[in-house]
Amino acid sequence: MTRAETETRTGSAPAAAQQMRAVTQDRYGSSDVLQVGMVERPDIATDEVLIEVHAAGVDRGTEHLMTGKPYLIRLLGFGFRRPKQRVLGSDVAGTVIEIGSAVTRFKVGDEVFGVAEGSFAEYAAAKQEKLALKPSGVSFEAAAVTAVSGITALQALTDVGKVKPGQRVLVIGASGGVGTFAVQLARTLGATVDGVAGARNLELVRSLGAEHVYDHRQTALADITERYDLVLDIGGQNPLRSLRGVLAERGTLVIVGGEDGDRFTGGIGRQLRAMILSPFVAHRLTAFISKVHQSSIEQLAGHLASGSVIPAIAGRFDLAETAQAIRLFEIGKASGKSVINVRSA
Ligand SMILES: NC(=O)c1ccc[n+]([C@@H]2O[C@H](COP(=O)([O-])OP(=O)(O)OC[C@H]3O[C@@H](n4cnc5c(N)ncnc54)[C@H](OP(=O)(O)O)[C@@H]3O)[C@@H](O)[C@H]2O)c1
Repeated sequence: MTRAETETRTGSAPAAAQQMRAVTQDRYGSSDVLQVGMVERPDIATDEVLIEVHAAGVDRGTEHLMTGKPYLIRLLGFGFRRPKQRVLGSDVAGTVIEIGSAVTRFKVGDEVFGVAEGSFAEYAAAKQEKLALKPSGVSFEAAAVTAVSGITALQALTDVGKVKPGQRVLVIGASGGVGTFAVQLARTLGATVDGVAGARNLELVRSLGAEHVYDHRQTALADITERYDLVLDIGGQNPLRSLRGVLAERGTLVIVGGEDGDRFTGGIGRQLRAMILSPFVAHRLTAFISKVHQSSIEQLAGHLASGSVIPAIAGRFDLAETAQAIRLFEIGKASGKSVINVRSA
């Protein structure tokens, strides 16, 4: 409920609502639908904190929420004809300026990062379990790009992929938001890692710790001779047969996502087929949707603090340039994650 709605229901005189700058959208579409304007600051629930946003990360999911595609997401509660949430953005880093009455983990003044609703704004509300303290030596920019993609990479490798030290891991889509975290995390967890990415990003993926990096436009999976204990399928829409072709005898496939699926379902047929086939073959074929858990964010905070994970920042933008940042996805030119410096202008 917004502050204005509360006041209308209780009949109290409307207090002057505090305004903030934010990136909003009133309809689904390309980055052209985004506007920068003044909106009401969010109210917080008892288990939420209000964050003064310093920086916000741009992730693929945000682009999906902007376009409303694949259409399946509209059926999942994000708004059928137009987006329910007007202010875009999930990844956040900033300073706590207000806490709800049930908040126990944070106090006013804490520097935090994690996932909020509507982070492309000067202020955002976030549930306490979706945040962690930002390690003191880590910049707001680096923390801001970590949560959404880092949690996905971590859960794909550990909770689902059950990676073990010494295993061989292939990350397909190693140069993107999720992949750049996956390569570093897999190395940190003791695996040897190879990657698949576009030509202009091969050096980036090597610098993150991958041994062999294949250009997805030059090398088909069928041409890779190595066999992997774990394959994370994050980019492209490789058929299940090709993905199984690079797995070791009892290897595990984790399908995280991939663009260029159909506009209705985004290509989740691959995920469904993998899960149906898995009980009948020696390979373990899985797919999953990441969940924002406190323990995952805290593990990532530890990796940021130790320097075992250094987020790859694709580009820096200010709030007014958010459409430009999202355009990098539209033209397929994201390398790592872009960051919006909300307080820079
Ligand atoms: N399951 C979940 O919970 C979950 C969570 C987050 C994201 N996702 C999904 O995961 C996918 C990746 O997200 P992201 O944020 O990492 O996206 P991203 O930043 O756009 O990265 C996409 C990656 O895919 C690579 N790629 C593009 N075409 C390819 C091809 N034909 N073969 C192999 N690789 C190819 C890109 O390489 P180059 O750019 O170097 O060419 C890049 O490394 C998206 O579909 C997203 O919706 C799922």
